Amino acid sequence: MDIVLLGPPGAGKGTQAARLQANRGMVQLSTGDMLRQAVAAGTPVGLQAKAVMEAGELVSDAIVSALIGERLDDAIDSGAIFDGFPRTQAQAEALDLLLSERDRHVAYVIELAVDEDALVQRICGRFTCAVCSAPYHDEFKLPKVDGVCDVCGSTEFKRRPDDNETTVRTRMAEYRAKTAPILPYYEQRGLVRRVDGMASVDEVAAQIDAILDGPA
Ligand code: AP5
Ligand code: MG
Repeated sequence: MDIVLLGPPGAGKGTQAARLQANRGMVQLSTGDMLRQAVAAGTPVGLQAKAVMEAGELVSDAIVSALIGERLDDAIDSGAIFDGFPRTQAQAEALDLLLSERDRHVAYVIELAVDEDALVQRICGRFTCAVCSAPYHDEFKLPKVDGVCDVCGSTEFKRRPDDNETTVRTRMAEYRAKTAPILPYYEQRGLVRRVDGMASVDEVAAQIDAILDGPA
């Protein structure tokens, strides 16, 4: 089953995708993570994407669609969780084409409905383990032992350069202008399921499980 997680920056896409990957063996395909890896590795894609990401704007449709195309076959058996993709109408159409070429299709688009002001607080407190990328938050999810990753025991953590209030506001404006308008494309096919993204991480996870395990 291939599913899309849709929601503004900080809605919890990455948190829920990582959980679905761990619990169901699905494969998380996050264009944001792929682009950050490209930036860190200094590849041509990374060099093009760096300044755009730091400004909170969208990287080109061609680049992100190609990144997804390269990774789609990693998720043949268990299905993919598209995290942060598609983000424009052109990307939504590119995804449909990439999937249909493989006799696959989007099963659900799970929209994480959230309050934008709360998201700024969520994003600006976010950090991850530098080794295994486990997600944490200064207020909502600190490691159980101070300074030690719950998952891998690392003592190194990192924060994203685009996690500051100015850039977050731009990322949200991009979401409203270019990404939210793709919802009707999926609504007309009956694929959208809305969950309350302001609930706790476990409650959001339970809502998503109910969708994936419920009647089609
Ligand atoms: P990307 O990496 O996709 O970032 P984003 O969409 O801005 O979303 P985030 O990763 O910030 O949030 P999230 O929804 O994953 O939330 P998280 O689970 O971390 O994209 C970054 C940039 O790359 C873009 O700006 C663009 O430049 C480029 N890009 C990427 N994809 C692209 C594409 N397809 N096209 C063009 N450009 C693209 O949660 C946030 C925090 O809240 C965490 O600390 C978490 O612990 C906490 N939290 C999560 N859920 C809850 C909850 N229920 N309650 C309380 N706290 C919670
Ligand atoms: Mg994310």
